[in-house]
Amino acid sequence: MNPTEHALKITVATGAVSTWKSDALIVGVYEGGEAQAALSLCGEELAQEVQQRLQEKWIKGGLGESILFRTPANSGLQMPRIVLLGLGKKESLTNESFRALGGHIHALCNKSNIATCHVLLSLDTYQASKKQSAKRPAKQRPIAVLESLAEGAWLSSYRFEHFKSKENKEGKEPKEPKEEHPFKQLVLGLSGEETAQEKKRLLSVEQLTRGVAFARNLGNQPPNLLNPETLAQQARQLAERLPAIKTTIYAERMLVRKGMNGILAVGGGSRTPPCLITLEYRHGGDRPLLAVVGKGITFDSGGLNIKSGEGMAEMKYDMCGAAAVFGFVQAVAEMELPINLVGVVPAAENMPSATAQRPGDIIKTAKGLFVEVLNTDAEGRLILADALHHASSFKPAAIIDLATLTGACVVALGSQASGLMGNNPPLLRQLEKAGERSGDRLWQLPMFPEYQEQIKSTVADIKNVGGKGAGTITAACFLSRFVEENQAWAHIDIAGTAYDTGSSQPHMPKGAVGVGVRLLYHFVQKNWL
Ligand code: BES
Ligand code: MN
Ligand code: ZN
Repeated sequence: MNPTEHALKITVATGAVSTWKSDALIVGVYEGGEAQAALSLCGEELAQEVQQRLQEKWIKGGLGESILFRTPANSGLQMPRIVLLGLGKKESLTNESFRALGGHIHALCNKSNIATCHVLLSLDTYQASKKQSAKRPAKQRPIAVLESLAEGAWLSSYRFEHFKSKENKEGKEPKEPKEEHPFKQLVLGLSGEETAQEKKRLLSVEQLTRGVAFARNLGNQPPNLLNPETLAQQARQLAERLPAIKTTIYAERMLVRKGMNGILAVGGGSRTPPCLITLEYRHGGDRPLLAVVGKGITFDSGGLNIKSGEGMAEMKYDMCGAAAVFGFVQAVAEMELPINLVGVVPAAENMPSATAQRPGDIIKTAKGLFVEVLNTDAEGRLILADALHHASSFKPAAIIDLATLTGACVVALGSQASGLMGNNPPLLRQLEKAGERSGDRLWQLPMFPEYQEQIKSTVADIKNVGGKGAGTITAACFLSRFVEENQAWAHIDIAGTAYDTGSSQPHMPKGAVGVGVRLLYHFVQKNWL
């Protein structure tokens, strides 16, 4: 599986609108039929034409609505078609609406056979969306919404069609030999006042969304092809492609030597042995180190506590935490961000067999804590126990783990937010903000000390299940035992957000979403640079 090449190119344009050349110009209109102030930059002819169409109510301006018409002859513009794009209500514009708009532009251009287009959004849009970013300096706002727009367009261009034979690919219309995805280039109109740094950041959305696409590709890979070994191979290939990344793989022998019996026990039932993958990227001098840990269960059958048929079908996605780590590390390395980062991925396949662990087993983890395994389906916490302990050994300033850990989290939050827990309130607050900014939203659950009672074992230090109530929290309580108390740590349960079984959002396809990559990117952008 090769790194995703974006079919879509995104560039920026400054200077007079009359010098822009492409197939179409996209101009925004608000709900209620008000054109954006930027329209005045497009000349009298077009402004009049647009105003007339608005008066005649050709378009209402709801989010994602659009009309397309021929550019008036005497307008002096070199873009033969005009698209009026509905932005929705002026007051309710958010970064997420701009992501959706990016998606709508992508769909619209493909449908209308537009290969390249210019988008002109004016400052009133940025001011209208200031609610979201009121504290940010005024100058950053325009870039933030264009960033989101580009993100949405790119994320919408993602397709997972590696396993579709030619005649079954989406968009194929057998009788017409037209191109499947004609849309090739989106040009973002800038005011010209942007700094070089702002422009660079805007264009780094390309690397970011490539990271998301990489995470999606890994997540969508079927479990007969993606197993702990092939996941480790992905890490090796990543390090080969990007020499700034150093990878270390602990194979079974090394896991034994390190006493990583959590990973060994979970992987013991599979024909493919488990491993521990470490990705190191050090480009930040003596700056603090960030550790990200991702659950890498390439398939979760439940083990001897086997899952029901319906519950099992989606369990190829049980490595989406790992996928987020891979995607994030790739994005950071491609952007050459000046940070120090280590990614840790415990990889195993949870299968029932004669060599699988049993309910009742007691295992000694790498940290030395004894765990009574009462349910082999609560396997994520067992591999993460050793991985968190390993991550601690790098002495990071913070550890963030992402895991499709509990069905209880799906019950609590559905697919609208990932569960957030941890031991360090400032870190959790920073993550919540990054969640808001990135669209990978988080919602915090409490970790009152009393919850720890639920994982006390009668025969070992702790047990791997916490009883009926608060399943997401007791899983986090379990993990908390494997980081030192003074080690800043956050746990993100992505069981409900990692994959989508039917989305209406154009930038959120069915299957793996790539959740976590954008979250971590915005988190380091804001707090780590
Ligand atoms: N991978 C599952 C959690 C999961 C469930 C992810 C649904 C995505 C969608 C995890 O390994 C698991 O099986 N958890 C058990 C824990 C229980 C046995 C304590 C669960 O949630 O049922
Ligand atoms: Mn499980
Ligand atoms: Zn699992």
